[in-house]
Amino acid sequence: MNDVLPEQTPRWQYLEGTARALLAAYAYQEIRFPVLEQTQLFKRSIGEATDIVEKEMYTFEDRNGDSLTLRPEGTACCVRAADQGALLYNQTRKLWYLGPMYRHERPQKGRYRQFYQLGVEAFGMSEADIEAELLLLCADLWQRLGIAHYLKLEINNLGSSEDRARYGAALRQFLLPHKDKLDADSQRRFDSNVLRILDSKDESTRALLADAPRLDDFVGEDSKARFAHLLELLAAAGISCERNPTLVRGLDYYNGVVFEWITDKLGAQSAVCSGGRYDALSAQLGGTRTPAVGFAMGLERVLLLLEETQAFPVGLEQTVDVYMAVVGQGVQSQALDLGRELRRSIPGLRLLTHCGGGKYNAQLKKAYASGARCALILEGEVPQTTVKLRLLDDSNTGAELPLGDVRAWLVRELGLADNQHPCAAQAAQ
Ligand code: HAM
Repeated sequence: MNDVLPEQTPRWQYLEGTARALLAAYAYQEIRFPVLEQTQLFKRSIGEATDIVEKEMYTFEDRNGDSLTLRPEGTACCVRAADQGALLYNQTRKLWYLGPMYRHERPQKGRYRQFYQLGVEAFGMSEADIEAELLLLCADLWQRLGIAHYLKLEINNLGSSEDRARYGAALRQFLLPHKDKLDADSQRRFDSNVLRILDSKDESTRALLADAPRLDDFVGEDSKARFAHLLELLAAAGISCERNPTLVRGLDYYNGVVFEWITDKLGAQSAVCSGGRYDALSAQLGGTRTPAVGFAMGLERVLLLLEETQAFPVGLEQTVDVYMAVVGQGVQSQALDLGRELRRSIPGLRLLTHCGGGKYNAQLKKAYASGARCALILEGEVPQTTVKLRLLDDSNTGAELPLGDVRAWLVRELGLADNQHPCAAQAAQ
């Protein structure tokens, strides 16, 4: 689990700000739910025989003896919250959430025990146009972030849960005579979750699977027609994708379409964003029957990709425009006032007021160290009628001005009105 230190937070803010602005443009609504849920919720949704439930959950008993779990993902929580909030009965909803998830996995680059997901879930819509919109939204985000080039969409059709059950039985029958040649994980999954064997990275298991029955041959005509329609919508929107028949996903609640946006820039942790349709989940949890589809992206992985491809905008680290040096106790009150007034009258201005006293030179050193573009110096033992201004670049530009002229000088010299911080600019879009 990682801390995010102040040097890193502008990157997070940029990513989150860009995503929030895009979600607002699509008119999706934010939902927030607790990080803790009843353990049962995840067992019944993700599935007892999945890696997450079998070995990755942070589960403990609370003081009442109830079994609680730190959420390993958001879909189950979102369904629970939306249903309890009466959002699902006979309506459509387009929701998103952002927050930490917890899985006790072996940490490595791109895989952490606390990681952040941005999740989007759409309820009440069973036609393929909603899947197309969700994938469009992802594609737009990659575009805005400048990483579209590095992400590839893989997609598959799992069919209905009946189709999957029939296929599972056929796969089991096919593998039975070779069961002892399967890798240990696949042997374990043979009875509990046979489809996950398709996901195996083991070479001899993969060789065995070459002649196995194909899921697509078990998928019903309706489901195939829906899938074909989705592919048409994606093609018309200019989103290219690749069919991956072995993409089955590690959570049990999916039916129909599943997909992953993957990259070859991050080593083993290649899935940046994954999701699919899960029409049976709400009813299975005892709630309102409602069709549903969604995805979640791992924000650390998006950040790694931005870093790897140097796609961060320039100037992101710069968080201070003006450093106000305050030399002498007699001007402290005036400085607080002036800072407030400038922040109010120059939207987007980031003004850092020096607190704690100290000599002129020491304060100016701090102004340079802060990365500010300009120092504003208020000096004296009594309130002043003028301030000194100095650009902290090689130009040696400076001025001593009456208080009333400071605003205009800053706006002109720093180009502040139309040069907002990238986060503020994104939010305003
Ligand atoms: P998931 O594939 O388990 O699906 O996780 C979604 C994304 O979260 C992954 O593609 C990956 O980017 C990121 N992720 C997963 N585990 C880790 C980790 N340990 N460290 C860093 N990043 C990680 C779900 O969670 C589903 N709830 C997605 C969904 C939403 N399906 C429908 N709606």
